[in-house]
Amino acid sequence: MGVFEIAVMGGDGIGPEVTAEAVRALHAVGKRFGHTFTLREALVGQAAIDVEGAAISEQTMALCQQVDAVLFGAVGGTGVGDPNSKTEPMYSLFRLRKDLELFANVRPVRPLSALLGASTLKRATLRNVDMLVVRELTGGLYYGTPSEIRQGPDGASAVDTMTYTEAEIERIARYAFELARDRRKHVTSVDKANVLSCSRLWRRVVDRVHGDYPDITLRHMLVDACSMALIRNPREFDVVVTENLFGDILTDEASMLTGSLGMLPSASLGARRTKHGQFGLFEPIHGSAPDIAGQGKANPLAAILTVGLLLRYSLGLKRAAATVERAVRQVVTAGYRTADIAAAGEATVSTHAMGDAVVANILGD
Ligand SMILES: NC(=O)c1ccc[n+]([C@@H]2O[C@H](COP(=O)([O-])OP(=O)(O)OC[C@H]3O[C@@H](n4cnc5c(N)ncnc54)[C@H](O)[C@@H]3O)[C@@H](O)[C@H]2O)c1
Repeated sequence: MGVFEIAVMGGDGIGPEVTAEAVRALHAVGKRFGHTFTLREALVGQAAIDVEGAAISEQTMALCQQVDAVLFGAVGGTGVGDPNSKTEPMYSLFRLRKDLELFANVRPVRPLSALLGASTLKRATLRNVDMLVVRELTGGLYYGTPSEIRQGPDGASAVDTMTYTEAEIERIARYAFELARDRRKHVTSVDKANVLSCSRLWRRVVDRVHGDYPDITLRHMLVDACSMALIRNPREFDVVVTENLFGDILTDEASMLTGSLGMLPSASLGARRTKHGQFGLFEPIHGSAPDIAGQGKANPLAAILTVGLLLRYSLGLKRAAATVERAVRQVVTAGYRTADIAAAGEATVSTHAMGDAVVANILGD
């Protein structure tokens, strides 16, 4: 029986709605296993801009340095702004990732048998898919400078900079090889080495690090070919490691194997260790979905599955994590569907009712 401290940041749009259900699942785990979760709530994104004047306050940043883990919803509205501006919602996430050195974003993709029909792909293509995408999270185009729109005499131009150091590539490659050791021992490294210098360095460093992991099979794949193979034969992938932008795009694509963006959790892990495990920020891969916010339509299962990752990676509670994952599998098998995963004519439940079903399952009611 442990005592754990977790920062909770629902954020914007459907973020607070799905995070509320994730928190209920966490409390249910506490009740069932006798753990105490002390939750410290904080504002992020537009919610923080409105109340505190910045997308994330210095107090909230300091809070994240003290807790065992961060449970995060989503940030953003309908507009697109510069994530380097403190008054843009995405700034909060970028700042958290960079300042907390959350360099490894781990995204498991495992379509549930009961949901094979929810995907637009054929069932036979999806059966037994089990991959882990490891996305580098603190480098590449998202953080390179300069990054700006310039006004010149002949009109506007824009520049973004992709930059990677050898050390950044080495630590993510090492992390992916380590994860592969506990799985099917196969790593696909995805890049665009036929065009980009960053990718050629990426390939060189991944090859060098691979020398320390002779038990793991490595193959390189160009990102365009990978985006095709992910749909053609997703079973061929075990661990996929790639840079920031490619990982962002490929995992949205991979979410369609599970039927919905609302099914995919993620763990952003850093170098800091806590008393119980590896510090991390846990969030569903989806955004704030302004189109369905406030309507009780959001699928909370991705957010609830992030609780499973949080229990496993940051708190070292593998049994509790497995209980959450099993609960999600069983409620879906029992036929509970939010609108995004329902087939035509199938009855749907609200965000809260889906949360109720998972909580009841965890408690064994
Ligand atoms: N990590 C984050 O906080 C994060 C990630 C991606 C996008 N965003 C932000 O979110 C905002 C909206 O972006 P977007 O619309 O491109 O992406 P989105 O992920 O919010 O939504 C894409 C589509 O998927 C649906 N969807 C997403 N999550 C769902 C869920 N749990 N249940 C049911 N349906 C779901 C939405 O209704 C929408 O149709 C933008 O401001 C964007 O910058 C934030």
